[in-house]
Amino acid sequence: MSVVPAHHILGIDVGGSAVKGAIVDLNTGTLVSERYRLKTPRTAGPKEIGRLVARIVKHFKWRGPVGCGMPGPIKDGKVLALANLDKAWIGVKAHEVYSAACGCPVIVVNDADAAGLAEMQFGAGRGRKGVVVLATLGTGIGTAVFVDGTLVPNTEFGQMELRGKPAEQFASARVRKVKDLSWKTWGKRLNEYLAALENVLWPDAIILGGGVSRKAPRFLPSLKTRAHLMAATLGNEAGIVGAALAARRRT
Ligand code: BGC
Repeated sequence: MSVVPAHHILGIDVGGSAVKGAIVDLNTGTLVSERYRLKTPRTAGPKEIGRLVARIVKHFKWRGPVGCGMPGPIKDGKVLALANLDKAWIGVKAHEVYSAACGCPVIVVNDADAAGLAEMQFGAGRGRKGVVVLATLGTGIGTAVFVDGTLVPNTEFGQMELRGKPAEQFASARVRKVKDLSWKTWGKRLNEYLAALENVLWPDAIILGGGVSRKAPRFLPSLKTRAHLMAATLGNEAGIVGAALAARRRT
């Protein structure tokens, strides 16, 4: 590959249904390549996901730093817990697995934290002070909390108990699809989740993210929160853009 500008970084978003990557321009928060997407296999342990991440790196003939977002609280690259990928990940140093598989330095952060970084810098949260929480509604529910623009990493408010189970099993976008819920019924579930979240966090603003944020007009008007409620503006790209941003912060 020809000389890559220093403000271009490969961002990868590892999710329960797909692993997606693209080259990100960190000055603008936009993708400067097409998005390359591979389906997450049923067994999604370190070996399998490592291989997919390496395929993405190879696809872009990438040699520079890589930022990767994945589910679970992640400290110094180590996966501490997981709900939506293979449990074999727990305790594994993900950055070492990916770096070895691709032959380039990979920085790993929680996927919702990555999406939050992108929304705060380039999207709905731009310039927002106070306590802001981004909730990504996808296979699970991920959260990213910011205090005056600074990330409080690894919050897991999707795992908060609601009706006797993790909230994400009640109100994620996957639940809407699997249970074939109408927007109205799902909106009620989401309202219940947001009320529970507000009772423990009292944020000033809430940003709803994930692919479903593109459909915000269908469910946002029925939601009632004390905090200022917004739809994310970067949609599904936030995870990729934010992963690249995280890599710049650490390199
Ligand atoms: C995980 C979070 C993650 C979210 C979105 C949840 O199951 O616990 O860490 O951010 O899914 O992928």
